[in-house]
Amino acid sequence: MPSSSEPFDSQFGDHSKKMDELSWPSKTQFDEIRKMVAEMAGRGTEDVKVVVSPYRICPLGAHIDHQGGTVSAMTINRGILLGFVPSGDSQVLLHSGQFKGEVRFSVDEFQHPRHTVIGSNQVNGSGSSKVDEECSWGNYARGALYALQSRGNHLTQGIIGFICGSEDLDSSGLSSSAAVGVAYLLAFESANNLPLSPTENIEYDRLVENEYLGLRNGILDQSAILLSRYGCLTCMNCKTKEYKLVHPPKFQSHGNQMEKAYKILLAFSGLKQALTTNPGYNNRVAECQEAARLLLHASGNGGVEPLLSNVELTVYEKHKSKLEPTLARRAEHYFSENMRVKKGLEAWASGKLEDFGKLISASGLSSIQNYESGCGPLIELYEILLRAPGVYGARFSGAGFRGCCIAFVDASRATKAASFVKEEYQKRQPDQASKLNPESAVLICDAGDCARVI
Ligand code: GLA
Repeated sequence: MPSSSEPFDSQFGDHSKKMDELSWPSKTQFDEIRKMVAEMAGRGTEDVKVVVSPYRICPLGAHIDHQGGTVSAMTINRGILLGFVPSGDSQVLLHSGQFKGEVRFSVDEFQHPRHTVIGSNQVNGSGSSKVDEECSWGNYARGALYALQSRGNHLTQGIIGFICGSEDLDSSGLSSSAAVGVAYLLAFESANNLPLSPTENIEYDRLVENEYLGLRNGILDQSAILLSRYGCLTCMNCKTKEYKLVHPPKFQSHGNQMEKAYKILLAFSGLKQALTTNPGYNNRVAECQEAARLLLHASGNGGVEPLLSNVELTVYEKHKSKLEPTLARRAEHYFSENMRVKKGLEAWASGKLEDFGKLISASGLSSIQNYESGCGPLIELYEILLRAPGVYGARFSGAGFRGCCIAFVDASRATKAASFVKEEYQKRQPDQASKLNPESAVLICDAGDCARVI
């Protein structure tokens, strides 16, 4: 497996060429953000750099990263943009396209973990007071500073920046929090000439989420954001941190490149709640660990760290009957999902989109039945997607407590599928559907590239 040691700035030229090809960010979006920052800082637009930090999807490998499982991921052509200039001193000044207020602090201030974050959906601040909003969205910038400081990096340069997310996509299970965390890390590193590798930034973003915010999640999100390459499936072993990019075959039987053969549908449920405000995520992590502890104990390995990746498949098979039903379901999800990832990587590498899709849908079902992470409207949306024309496979995105479902769909039928899903969801869940912008209730996206500074 390759190790990722390139500093992000060296990726710059290569990626800027692809900007138009990938349709996000558009030249207009890019110009607007540079203009905003130039005005804020009293500088020329040519001084402004922009971090492009895409959202991720995880077709296979849901809920197993925190147990050291192997996951698959890719980015999409939507995400976070952070325009910035070095401030010339230690001050940080930030404005947001979605939040009110401004965030100000100094990179000299020593940051401490804030485990009790509430309302941390950093892009949508509706319903909270200005003070709450400031506290909430500023936490990701402070968290990035915390991560860098806690590993001995001394920052002298602050930034003046403007951050914005793709419209209507916040708190949707597309990893907007990791995309924001990564964006601030890359901006601080660029302003302070700290050439850190993607691997180091995966760890730094883990510190933001696990230590600073107190969410016990795995490294799926930031790995996808930092490592993915257009057209490939990123495979990450969350225990060893080894990764590889799985290329599809160059041409499909009908002569098309695989990346042109499918589209990614995002179908939104209307439910929004940040993971840091929902105890469900950390509770599931604790259940997986309890299952691992019992299985390790039953096999005479009680001293080993209680993670399901430390339990051999044979040990699981031999002792699973000793687990009470809830824990047995969590463990079943882990072991069956690892298997689906393995088969999915093979299907992807041989261009078998139908097989790949079936595995995604099976993964979605296991999330519902074994991991029990769905909720009524999301399950309904998943079932509608399975019936939509041209859909290869579908599942919840992210933790599955809110947000959207993703689907891989035959590119030539993507528009039909999107209309079908929108109409059916409106019929079945009118209350949730009424919360959605009809223009963006179902989006047709393409694969994206990795986070970078332009
Ligand atoms: C969230 C977490 C990830 C991962 C997914 C579920 O996105 O941040 O670490 O656990 O849920 O696969």
